[in-house]
Amino acid sequence: MAQVMEGKTLAEKIKAEVKAEVRRLQAESGQVPKLVGILVGENKASEIYLRTKEKTAQSLGIVSEIRRFPQSLSQEELIDQLRILNEAPEIDGLLVQLPLPPKFETNRVIEAISPEKDVDGFHPLNLGRLFMNEEGLRPCTPAGIIELLKFYGVSLEGQEVVIIGRSLIVGKPLAAMFINENSTVTICHSRTRNLAGIASRADILVAAMGRPAYVQPELVKEGAVVVDVGINYVSEASFIEKIFGDDPKKRQDLQEKGYTIVGDVHPAAREKASFYTPVPGGVGPLTVAMLMQNTLLAFKRRRQLG
Ligand SMILES: NC(=O)c1ccc[n+]([C@@H]2O[C@H](COP(=O)([O-])OP(=O)(O)OC[C@H]3O[C@@H](n4cnc5c(N)ncnc54)[C@H](OP(=O)(O)O)[C@@H]3O)[C@@H](O)[C@H]2O)c1
Repeated sequence: MAQVMEGKTLAEKIKAEVKAEVRRLQAESGQVPKLVGILVGENKASEIYLRTKEKTAQSLGIVSEIRRFPQSLSQEELIDQLRILNEAPEIDGLLVQLPLPPKFETNRVIEAISPEKDVDGFHPLNLGRLFMNEEGLRPCTPAGIIELLKFYGVSLEGQEVVIIGRSLIVGKPLAAMFINENSTVTICHSRTRNLAGIASRADILVAAMGRPAYVQPELVKEGAVVVDVGINYVSEASFIEKIFGDDPKKRQDLQEKGYTIVGDVHPAAREKASFYTPVPGGVGPLTVAMLMQNTLLAFKRRRQLG
């Protein structure tokens, strides 16, 4: 019987630790961390993600603020704003909610964030440090995945890991993290030949593709650990019924919200796993918890607090 790896449980533990540390440092130094999130243009999902980050930060004693800018903002104006925020001594963490509207060059914008405030861990300096296996601010979703596997006692050393997805947000930094843990890693993507043959070798299989229920049982080795990063909003009732049968929770979601969230892993594939992450409630909650941990780390380093 496959064991579920609940991200929520670990996320609550991490947040409680951050809260206690923020309180201790405030008592000792009179200072509190501050996190600023930037939202450009109107994007409903980005607005929800950013508000979740703001509310979580505030619940842990971190001062948090969202700066909203209109779609008409130019890239130069956004970079100018980032420079001002980089210089602001009271701000410890700075993030730009992605995706940016298409006219922006995301990499140029990320490069303009001060590496010491880059709590998303996407700045080239922080990614470089990750590849060098040196300390730095780590991308939150992959860092959360590694923490979750360790929390459930999954051994990483010497394991054959296959990651499906090569984005800078998930797949690539996660590969570096597994290598740093002495795993043997293969990354697959849309041009990979024989995906099923490669995936089904994995002791640990990570699906980070953004394709609902794509990972079928034939991609999973019996007893593998399966991590499902996908968050797909699906509103097609016939598709949901085909994947989940008559699942009352999914039916209720569709009726009440008009969509339900589906991971990249088909439910039948989970049955072959020894451990798997659910969607929702698996990797998702850890991303925000790791962001809070990064904000605390940036605060301590910048202000030289122990
Ligand atoms: N839980 C969380 O907190 C969290 C955080 C971030 C993302 N996510 C979710 O994770 C998923 C991936 O996000 P992302 O930002 O990494 O997405 P992304 O930038 O769109 O990257 C998707 C990757 O999957 C690969 N891919 C797509 N279809 C494929 C196929 N049929 N076969 C093999 N590879 C395929 C793509 O290959 P190519 O490179 O060849 O195009 C690409 O490398 C999304 O559902 C997203 O919502 C969740």
